[in-house]
Amino acid sequence: MRPRKTFLIAAILVGWIFTTYLIFIKNFKESNPQRDQSILQKVHYLEQNIHFAEESRGRLYREIINILQKEEKTTSTEALPPVVNNVDLIEVPAPIAETPPKPDGSSGLEKFQQKYINGDVNSPIIPVLVFACNRLSVNKCLDDLIRYRPRADQFPIIVSQDCDDEATRTMILSYKENVTLIRQPDQSDITVLPKEKKYKGYYKISRHYGWALKTVFKQGFESIIIVEDDLSIAPDFYEYFLGTYPILKKDQSLWCISAWNDNGKEGLIDGAASELLYRSDFFPGLGWMMTKELWEELEPKWPKAFWDDWIRQPEQRKERACIRPELPRTRTFGKVGVSNGLFFDKHLKYIKLSEEFVSFTKMNLTYLHKSIYDDMFLNAVYQSPVVTLDELKRGLVKTTDPVRVAYLTKEQYKRITKSLGLMDDFKSGVPRTAYHGIVSFFYNGRRVYLAPNVNWKGYDLTWS
Ligand code: UD1
Ligand code: MN
Repeated sequence: MRPRKTFLIAAILVGWIFTTYLIFIKNFKESNPQRDQSILQKVHYLEQNIHFAEESRGRLYREIINILQKEEKTTSTEALPPVVNNVDLIEVPAPIAETPPKPDGSSGLEKFQQKYINGDVNSPIIPVLVFACNRLSVNKCLDDLIRYRPRADQFPIIVSQDCDDEATRTMILSYKENVTLIRQPDQSDITVLPKEKKYKGYYKISRHYGWALKTVFKQGFESIIIVEDDLSIAPDFYEYFLGTYPILKKDQSLWCISAWNDNGKEGLIDGAASELLYRSDFFPGLGWMMTKELWEELEPKWPKAFWDDWIRQPEQRKERACIRPELPRTRTFGKVGVSNGLFFDKHLKYIKLSEEFVSFTKMNLTYLHKSIYDDMFLNAVYQSPVVTLDELKRGLVKTTDPVRVAYLTKEQYKRITKSLGLMDDFKSGVPRTAYHGIVSFFYNGRRVYLAPNVNWKGYDLTWS
């Protein structure tokens, strides 16, 4: 019986292989070059898409958001903000170009030539470069910047406008001598691959950033604060940058000061710790300061698109950190923009702007230097007792002292952050706000460190 059974199985197997072979041959013969070409194209397209998706999950969000936004726009009845701005500047706007236009768009910057030289490390001249396009609500941003500005000569506000939108330009010019307008002269269409059409906005933003930073740094400034037209600022915004400026200049392991906390939501921050600052391996952007040395380094390789994701790549970051506050000193109101929408509703709109004025310039901030900070911070984190997510969430932790929640894998990290309402994404393997893999936040009245193993070896680029 046995050999017969084996023979039967073998016969069925051979039959199956033969049939599969026939089907394959048939398909192969039927193949035509046109169809093959189209399949190849599709495969290629898919490959590129997969690669793209891996590169930035965030970007995919943005795409979904764009679609939702378009729908929203067609149904929205929300009125645009009124075309008036603060105080006594509601006069007829000045003529378009008071200074003769220069082909490179930089008219109006000449006046800074003398001024910047007077700055020194204790009283530097730091221009605030505002990126604008076609949002009339840039007035909200400018009103804040002017209202809280301690000295106009120390913090000249330069608005760089892309997009050539007349109404926005008129709005900016209505601020007269309070701001200087420069115009991104290259309004040519950017050619992108068909599949990247939806990302064109990111190409335009990157081109604008490249041009404006180059133009302003060319004036000789030592550093620049970068602001986007949909940001509100906290009362001590300038004081924060002024206070941290000397460390940025001195500590080569720092490459930016940012006013942003990615997890700066009510309930995740300690409202009483307005003076608390951190080092962060995650580049936060959104109201940030960079030095001319960094610009000189980045300028030759400035990217064509997605500048913020690009800057977070290891080749650019080179293991440098930013300073970021516990309480956010900027907040975005730009729900409608190049991306946003969903991301805005889910997250950004909950970011809480700090209200108290902290005299950072009078504080000793040397603890932020790497040589002091690393020991201090890592000790604090790894001396704190480990609790489970469950204990934390159910209020079973006895102490009010700082505690630690451990994570080892990407999946664990995602699960914990999702469950606590923290940002759960990574850029170039770095979790938002993380320093040495550690995310510090506040939960039910206590400090919590979400931390990897004490012998952590560095970020894993495949975590996304
Ligand atoms: C997001 C980021 C933003 C980053 C941008 C580029 C958040 C909340 N925002 O933009 O910090 O710079 O991705 O990757 O994460 N703009 C132009 N030209 C244009 C369109 C816009 O200069 O053609 C300017 C806007 O005026 C604004 C900035 O670019 O200052 C960002 O535009 P926005 O529409 O706010 O896009 P986000 O999705 O916020
Ligand atoms: Mn924005």
